[in-house]
Amino acid sequence: RQNERESLYIILNFAKNFYVNQLHDTEEGQAIGLSYFRERGFSQETRQKFELGYSLDTWDALSREALAKGFSVDILEKAGLLIHREGSQTAGYDRFRGRVIFPIHNVAGKVIAFGARILKADKHGRGNQPKYLNSPETEVYHKSDVLYGIYQAKNAIRQKEHCYLVEGYTDVISLHQAGIENVVASSGTSLTVEQIRLIGRFTPNITILYDGDVAGVKAALRGLDLVLEEGLNVSVVLFPDGDDPDSFVRKVGAEAFKEHIRKASRDFISFKTEILLQDAGNDPFKLAAVISEVVNSVVKIPDAIKRQVFFHRISEMMKVDEQMLISEGNKLLRKTH
Ligand code: UTP
Ligand code: MN
Ligand code: MN
Ligand code: MN
Ligand code: MN
Repeated sequence: RQNERESLYIILNFAKNFYVNQLHDTEEGQAIGLSYFRERGFSQETRQKFELGYSLDTWDALSREALAKGFSVDILEKAGLLIHREGSQTAGYDRFRGRVIFPIHNVAGKVIAFGARILKADKHGRGNQPKYLNSPETEVYHKSDVLYGIYQAKNAIRQKEHCYLVEGYTDVISLHQAGIENVVASSGTSLTVEQIRLIGRFTPNITILYDGDVAGVKAALRGLDLVLEEGLNVSVVLFPDGDDPDSFVRKVGAEAFKEHIRKASRDFISFKTEILLQDAGNDPFKLAAVISEVVNSVVKIPDAIKRQVFFHRISEMMKVDEQMLISEGNKLLRKTH
């Protein structure tokens, strides 16, 4: 097992270097990959920091090179780099072809996986091709444990005592380039306990910067009780409809971006209460459901003082008696403990 993990780190590092070289040293890489990154405004320094690369639009450029260097079909396959059909006479074909490459690093900086973006995509991809193709789960890559950018962000997170959580690879990269380095991405999935604990190793303070669309808001609400349960202080910022942190920071610049965060940042409980209240309107049944839902979130907070502060806050927002909320909360607490 230990040996296999080491072998995987070695082949993944080899592949990363191969993709970086192809970006710079091939005509195709320069004409397609490099111009793509330049168009997105990623500087050379940024490309180096994130070790961005390019995979040629051929069937087996990577695996041919790796096999020539003595790597086995087996390890290429276990690393998620080679797709090999059972019973096939050939070695197989490369998973990533004709895409720009975003290596995914673990906390220690080792490459454990890749995200690979198609060059021209509409909102979801192109035809039946997904916009991003990612490494499969492997011995060294458990998607649900990983945060994109944690290696590049960890010192800044510690220093600022704060972490921004975004959805995408390019959000992390654009914010770094704008001088905001305490940022990681959940890579489009809903947040897991492992990811939250990973952030918690560096700071208890987290602000979620989700894409400005309905799905983004719903995603923001879902799974966030989990963050409260872990004792983290969580706030939420929304962006204008259609923008994500990457497009927004490029549109308005770093200073206006930070100003937006300062102004639009809401603690999660108030944010959730406000959204649910809007949905409920004047319907007393819906209102009652909102009250239950929000009390449910508050009792997830492990710290009794923080709970008290939030009971006070939400009683004002929902215009209901604070003592009633507290006693409902206490009933729930007794049930769960
Ligand atoms: P988005 O669709 O918001 O993409 O998905 P993005 O990060 O803004 O990318 P650009 O700006 O169009 O290049 C957010 C994240 O969800 C994951 C990726 O990690 C992506 O960064 N995702 C998205 C996938 O894994 N596969 C997909 O097909 C789409
Ligand atoms: Mn795991
Ligand atoms: Mn984007
Ligand atoms: Mn996005
Ligand atoms: Mn009070």
